[in-house]
Amino acid sequence: MPYYSQEIIDEIISKNDIVSVVGERVHLKRQGGSYVGLCPFHNDRNPSFSVSPSKQMCHCFSCLEGGDVISFVMKYENYTFPEAVKVLADRAGVALPEVQYTPEMQLVKGKREKLYEIMNEAEKYFFYQLKTEAGALGMRYFEERQLTPETIQHFGLGYSLQYSNDIVRYLRKKGYDDDLIREAGLGVFYEKEGMVDKFINRVMFPIQNSNGKVIGFGGRVMGDAKPKYLNSPENLIFEKRKNLFGLNYARRSKKKYMILCEGYMDVIAMHQAGFTEAVASLGTAFTPEQAMLLKRFTKDVLLAYDSDGPGVAAALKALAILNEMDMHGRVINMKPYKDPDEFIKGLGVEEFQKRLDHAEDGFMFEVRQAHVPFETEGAGARERTEFTRTLVDMLCRFEDEIERENYLTDVASIYNIDRDTLHNAVIKAASRGASERTKAALNVRSLGNEESAKRKDNIKGSAKRCEMTLLAWIAQRPELYEQIKEDITASDFTDDIYRKAAEIIFGQIKNGKVVPTSVIESFEEDEEKRAVTEVFFSSPEELEQDPQMESGAERFKNLVIKVKQNGLGSASNMSADPNAELERLIAGKRLVEELSRRKFNV
Ligand code: CTP
Ligand code: MN
Repeated sequence: MPYYSQEIIDEIISKNDIVSVVGERVHLKRQGGSYVGLCPFHNDRNPSFSVSPSKQMCHCFSCLEGGDVISFVMKYENYTFPEAVKVLADRAGVALPEVQYTPEMQLVKGKREKLYEIMNEAEKYFFYQLKTEAGALGMRYFEERQLTPETIQHFGLGYSLQYSNDIVRYLRKKGYDDDLIREAGLGVFYEKEGMVDKFINRVMFPIQNSNGKVIGFGGRVMGDAKPKYLNSPENLIFEKRKNLFGLNYARRSKKKYMILCEGYMDVIAMHQAGFTEAVASLGTAFTPEQAMLLKRFTKDVLLAYDSDGPGVAAALKALAILNEMDMHGRVINMKPYKDPDEFIKGLGVEEFQKRLDHAEDGFMFEVRQAHVPFETEGAGARERTEFTRTLVDMLCRFEDEIERENYLTDVASIYNIDRDTLHNAVIKAASRGASERTKAALNVRSLGNEESAKRKDNIKGSAKRCEMTLLAWIAQRPELYEQIKEDITASDFTDDIYRKAAEIIFGQIKNGKVVPTSVIESFEEDEEKRAVTEVFFSSPEELEQDPQMESGAERFKNLVIKVKQNGLGSASNMSADPNAELERLIAGKRLVEELSRRKFNV
């Protein structure tokens, strides 16, 4: 089952602090002894995701997802166990021995690799077609858009032919089956026509992940037909919200900032003009995941969005995400053009560089946009008051006093507001806000407690709860196992998941060490994994808070007895032979009596 030795796994876990690994992907804030952030595994609005440095585990109190550093990376990146181990080993500079894959592992890994392979094949094919006679249309289109042969080569741009099943036939001939072609999004299956090409008569933009592997395509019509762009559907290797077009090149840029824009053509035009620090989201709004990707390289992001209407709204949303992630956004003035591609064609590289140099601070941009509704004719004291209130709210966002005061000075002078008045209003609001924030934080916490209390309630007093608590106790303090190993076996656990977990955990203790990841990974279903994760994450002392305030040792003893009694009564442990059954029951009863007199050290 374990494909790497426990020593290696342990070393990898110990050299990859879960707080920093999670922190590279999720924005975390310290809260007491642990860290909290928005859960990346469900649509979280209050930070429900908690990372514990002491336990080196993470856990979502809302969706119950979580685990140790390896299972986190598996879940977050959609990696298999060996893939996650490999990535973390590389991260920590741990050398890995050759892996032996089981057939199941081979299957998942194979699926991903097959997808990469077929995408790579498709990229080469589209690229090749662009150079053929049939592809002349596509080539002419790119030339009209002033792309050089080097740029076309660099980005691997291509062309999909006009036939209805050209690449499908090609890929079949190469030995790929229809299921894979469909999953890769290169073919679409229809009842009548069978497998048909997804991209027909379009210029093709391969989308690469940050390691340069092709994971999808954007295909553009060459005229005005709709939709302008078709994009590959998401699959095992292609998740739009976790990738940025151009990042595989932009990551090597020496600039201190990144440029974020909306279009493939914009990225390509900027790279061609020497601005290789440009990236774009993939036809969807900028996401927190993409912000975290950028944050690995820089905190400073210049937004190259359209200067009016939806572009401004998109910029404001992107700024909010960057703020949330403690990053710093600035906004490039693109007027009078719609996007960087058109700007560079219209005003040239030097002018574009100037616009970069003078990009507007994100906060000042937000203030300016907030001011727009008040710029009506005849606006007077009422509008000014309302705008000032808006400003006060906005300024309260800054936790750092110096930063806040500096912005305050600037906006007061630009918008002609008395500095002292603004300052006093902000101080007042900030202190009120602080107490509200504290209250909100307390609410989140009590909500978390309520929810976990509800969960606990469901199984309270039940056999399942005792099994879970006893197992949690032993899993987290394996030395306790010594005191019960003669009395409790996995078969005493009546719950299927806990029984299997007990079997593995007890086995690991006998072999010297409990490895949470490998226990969790022996379960197939997410539901099971969650249940087992909880065994490692919950603190048994807390779960066992009893009104009678027994000592830890007494609580432990009661649990052992309850689990034993329950196991004795479980149908699966009964013997078909009446004599043997009687003997079993008598022995059991004796054992329970003996246990109740025994002293445990906890
Ligand atoms: N997009 C999309 N589907 C569409 C339209 C747009 O996925 N039907 C995405 C593409 O990623 C595109 C980006 O949104 O690159 C920006 O769209 P738009 O500004 O309309 O296009 P441009 O990138 O400017 O493309 P072009 O210059 O070729 O018109
Ligand atoms: Mn454009």
